[in-house]
Amino acid sequence: PGSMVQTERLSPDAAGIARAASILRRGGLVAFPTETVYGLGADATSAEAVTGIYAAKDRPRFNPLISHVDSVKAAQRQGVFDDVASRLARAFWPGPLTLVVPVAPGCTVCDLARAGLDSVGLRVPSHPLARKLLAAVGRPVAAPSANRSGRVSPTRAEHVLVDLDHRIEAVLDGGATEVGIESTIVACLGGTPRLLRPGGVPREAIEAVIEGRLDLPPAVSSAPVAPGMLASHYAPRAQVRLNATTIRPGEAALLFGRMRPANADQAHATLNLSENGDLREAAARLFSALRSLDAADIGTIAVSPIPDAGLGEAINDRLRRAAAER
Ligand code: TXA
Ligand code: MG
Repeated sequence: PGSMVQTERLSPDAAGIARAASILRRGGLVAFPTETVYGLGADATSAEAVTGIYAAKDRPRFNPLISHVDSVKAAQRQGVFDDVASRLARAFWPGPLTLVVPVAPGCTVCDLARAGLDSVGLRVPSHPLARKLLAAVGRPVAAPSANRSGRVSPTRAEHVLVDLDHRIEAVLDGGATEVGIESTIVACLGGTPRLLRPGGVPREAIEAVIEGRLDLPPAVSSAPVAPGMLASHYAPRAQVRLNATTIRPGEAALLFGRMRPANADQAHATLNLSENGDLREAAARLFSALRSLDAADIGTIAVSPIPDAGLGEAINDRLRRAAAER
């Protein structure tokens, strides 16, 4: 980091994908779009390549990363899928679900990418560019969100460059991501599957497939098993005030639906995540909205109440982390 002159911006065509794959295959770092957020990719089989991820992100410690593969078959070579995990993979892959499963005997994901655990986080993304890239690399690609540690996840190539320009070799530009929040993470390690992080697949959809309840995620703490579990994460520079039904002078308003908070006209800036109260639209706009309000140099972002069902669980999770003390 620091020594690179320029981060290449690769176009989403065959040449761009080939270039991205060749950089990854020789151990370099490339950010690429998935349907959730942009990932900061490195060859998951190379500890040296994976070390680069932590340096580029300024991530203070080694945490388990998600390894991305291009098919269910490829995932099953890395991890052991019990009946529940197989059902979830069939139902939601390719898509915004990550499964944490025991490592398979032939697992090639390096220890560092798994943070030394005997489990592995796997995902088959649905974004066409991600899938083509993974097929061209032919190895699992470790990829956390392509932002500086603790910052808001990137949903556009421009966001990646704001955080990581000169720190990574390239970004594959696929425009805005569709889902906008990270994957749902479910651990299938025997017993009841556990929701480790709410995300792009709503809990209700998963519970319908497993015909039962997911175990609760472990309580948010400052000694996390994983960065996504840090109380303060996804943090914009501004303070974030949740469930705001009035706007205080100088605050920016992040609205949801048609309800206008009292004094909304006093807001320093106003953005609506979804006028129609559509949670999908709100998820897709969330991180971009936090970034643009931040760019406007605002002290506090007041956020309207957002329902907790469906994708609302993940949206509220990210907002609570953005609002947490730091
Ligand atoms: O949507 C996403 O999931 C994005 C895109 C790029 O795929 N990736 C992402 O990765 O959010 P990251 O590194 O920010 O999240 C990794 C999380 C960890 O925080 C941890 O919760 C979980 O994945 N994880 C991975 N492997 C694990 C393991 N073996 N045991 C427990 N948790 C694991
Ligand atoms: Mg992240």
